[in-house]
Amino acid sequence: MRLEGKTAIVTGGGRGIGEAIALALAGEGCSVAVAGRTREYLEKVTGRIQASGRDALAVVCDVSDPGSVEELFAQADERWGKLDILVNNAGQSHSELLHRLPLDTWKHMLDVNLTGTFICSQAALKRMLPRKSGRIINIASTAARIGFRYAGAYASAKHGVLGLTRSMALETATSGITVNSICPGWVESDMLHQAIQTISAKTKRPPEEARQFLANESPQKRIIQPEEIALAAVWLASEEARGVTGQAINIDGGQVMS
Ligand SMILES: NC(=O)c1ccc[n+]([C@@H]2O[C@H](COP(=O)([O-])OP(=O)(O)OC[C@H]3O[C@@H](n4cnc5c(N)ncnc54)[C@H](OP(=O)(O)O)[C@@H]3O)[C@@H](O)[C@H]2O)c1
Repeated sequence: MRLEGKTAIVTGGGRGIGEAIALALAGEGCSVAVAGRTREYLEKVTGRIQASGRDALAVVCDVSDPGSVEELFAQADERWGKLDILVNNAGQSHSELLHRLPLDTWKHMLDVNLTGTFICSQAALKRMLPRKSGRIINIASTAARIGFRYAGAYASAKHGVLGLTRSMALETATSGITVNSICPGWVESDMLHQAIQTISAKTKRPPEEARQFLANESPQKRIIQPEEIALAAVWLASEEARGVTGQAINIDGGQVMS
């Protein structure tokens, strides 16, 4: 058990990549607060964690709302009295060319994907800095490394997540805290299924072709599984990764090679 006695908050932990991360952290001995917008999803995940003999807390939270985030961290404080690991995983994407993108949608993409990561990280740092210990793991994207047509606002926000990661890593480098990003390529989740539907509808091609088109963006020509991301998050959260900070780790079948 690499994370015995540790406590974590995973945002967007009710489904998809966040669910896999919450389960993997718990599988290594961690107590996990699973946060997201939909209580039903959260309780399904916390039920599985509790059934495995670990402690878990389901907290409804909108990461773009500072009051809601403060309530999430307060509930974790009350339950465990300390926070070791924050995984900023909550995210949304939107498909539109930039010249047609409504300003409100641009702002929403930045609010959820970038500002949400900042708000949660700030709350975590306030708790981690006095203890000189902690891990912040941000789930960015290959869209943080390269531009993407039809995903300009999402890519801009995810590029911002890398800037935030690197800046926080510098500010915490001598405080026993590491801050890193994981940059997944296409991962099997509702976000992928939504992209497949959008491409299929726009191109009038069958969903299997749209799926293969996205898989082909990776030299491995395959979709990554959520558990592959979760294993990297566990490693970054572990003591073994104490020398790793300010990094952006691509898990994308070789789509981005830098
Ligand atoms: N799937 C991919 O191909 C892929 C690739 C690269 C990066 N990513 C990133 O990986 C992360 C997880 O994505 P996923 O693929 O697992 O997507 P997903 O299946 O659509 O899940 C998104 C999660 O984020 C939560 N969420 C969205 N907006 C939120 C908000 N304002 N406050 C709190 N929670 C919110 C959702 O909560 P509810 O369930 O309550 O709605 C859900 O748990 C995201 O940051 C995404 O950008 C995904």
